Amino acid sequence: MAKPRGYCAGVDRAVVTVEKALELYGAPVYVRKEIVHNRHVVETLAGKGAVFVEENEEVPPGSVVVFSAHGVAPEVHDQAAERGLKAIDATCPLVTKVHKEAVRYAEEDYDILLIGHEGHEEVIGTSGEAPEHIQLVDGPDAVDQVKVRDPEKVVWLSQTTLSVDETMETVGRLKQRLPMLQSPPSDDICYATQNRQQVVKDIAAECDVMLVVGSKNSSNSVRLVEVAVQHGARAGYLIDFAHEIDEAWLEGASTVGLSSGASVPDNLVQDVLAHLAKRGFANVEVFEPVTEKIAFSLPRELAKDLKAAG
Ligand code: F3S
Repeated sequence: MAKPRGYCAGVDRAVVTVEKALELYGAPVYVRKEIVHNRHVVETLAGKGAVFVEENEEVPPGSVVVFSAHGVAPEVHDQAAERGLKAIDATCPLVTKVHKEAVRYAEEDYDILLIGHEGHEEVIGTSGEAPEHIQLVDGPDAVDQVKVRDPEKVVWLSQTTLSVDETMETVGRLKQRLPMLQSPPSDDICYATQNRQQVVKDIAAECDVMLVVGSKNSSNSVRLVEVAVQHGARAGYLIDFAHEIDEAWLEGASTVGLSSGASVPDNLVQDVLAHLAKRGFANVEVFEPVTEKIAFSLPRELAKDLKAAG
């Protein structure tokens, strides 16, 4: 069993933000997009009175709206203000860091190559900070299509939840074309993504099968399955719930690896452990090469209201 796994500091903060907003303002609290990419988390919050919408225009004027952990473009804040919404921004601070980098390099008139997955909410939000300066590079095969104005004034940034290895491959290919390409001032792929991938890499070769608990739209969860297979697991599967485990996956396996994406509450992993124990995999060994101690404070606008409410 991999550790660190599951909830990262940004997801924990986003989920607690919605819970506290429900307690403080009462239901309904509107949430623009899935607060985090996990089915169970979204369904649980919906059961407590959160209403998930795609856009601000679905939110009645005067209501509370929470923006998801993946971040939003500045125009989304503007739309919320125009509509008279009380917006609480649960964007992970490590995504906000990438937004700030984008703004700074755009102000200095750089071409910004944003490595990320087309259509992912985080990429849409970051691109919205400086659309005229940012172009998306969706993996190593997209490098040949990149066009820049000045090859001496180019920087790459990235989505926070990518495969570390694939991103380095993309950067390597970009550098072959653009030797003066600058790197971000600090890692954009966040600590949680890096740690979860590293642990899976470390145990993959000893696992016949790797199970990763996470939803299909969770970028970092999908990457964990890929990393497991690339580093020696015979097979890797992504599941939302224990009951999705196909008995055929376990046939002939003597060791099963288990991890979970950054948006997955640990009770879902414990359900998988219980399921596996009944099938003969009761001897659990935890591999924990790093301890995570990171925590983020709640969004300012919510913290202020909580304080005022005593
Ligand atoms: Fe933030 Fe990384 Fe989690 S960017 S939301 S700490 S996966």
